Amino acid sequence: MQEPELVLEATAYTIDQLLSRDWRQIALAGRSNVGKSSLINAMARRRTLAKVSSTPGKTRSVNYYAVKPWGFYLVDLPGYGYARASHEERRKWASLLERYLKECRELVCLVLLVDGRLAPQKIDVQLAEYAKSIGLRVIPVLTKADKCKQREIGARRAEWKQILGVAPIVTSSASRFGMKALWQAVCREMDVELPEEGEGQSRQVGDGSEG
Ligand code: GTP
Ligand code: MG
Repeated sequence: MQEPELVLEATAYTIDQLLSRDWRQIALAGRSNVGKSSLINAMARRRTLAKVSSTPGKTRSVNYYAVKPWGFYLVDLPGYGYARASHEERRKWASLLERYLKECRELVCLVLLVDGRLAPQKIDVQLAEYAKSIGLRVIPVLTKADKCKQREIGARRAEWKQILGVAPIVTSSASRFGMKALWQAVCREMDVELPEEGEGQSRQVGDGSEG
């Protein structure tokens, strides 16, 4: 697979900024520390495109990555459910997220990231149900599969399938497992075709790509 290129194009902090971009968008949401920024890096095959940290609450702004060769955005959202954020901060972010999901006309689909090691958490289920209630499509993605036992992954897939009607895509940003399946799902939602290997520049040998 030939990866599309991601370029950081804009950063937003307010609802007006969030609603002002006119390209179609697919947004990554999930609890703080679930691995949203890492997934962006893995999708882009870059290490430092999106800032990653083991301390929850790293991403504080909404970051728009232009996806080339097409003109749409992959949107890295700040995480929710960060225990050490103040009540006020959490409330503000929840209302911003809710308005963005509801009012952004360019938002096509939500990629919901959940940690493969945890049983479905109430806050994630609520977000998924809210998205569905406003007619937004949801792609569920399990993160950190490299830290999970096969049995855990099987259980998570079954639990989320029960909740959403669709089993999550299993990924690891550490090993890049699942990146092809994820890009395929993104391209399906955005109605574009993934370039085949050999079109444009070719992949380097030994780059760790999952086949
Ligand atoms: P916020 O910006 O705080 O919302 O967090 P985030 O969801 O963007 O998480 P981030 O990508 O910053 O990753 C959080 C931590 O999890 C970092 O220490 C990452 O290295 C680690 N991590 C992310 N993905 C993976 C993965 O696939 N495998 C492993 N082992 N660690 C991961
Ligand atoms: Mg982040």
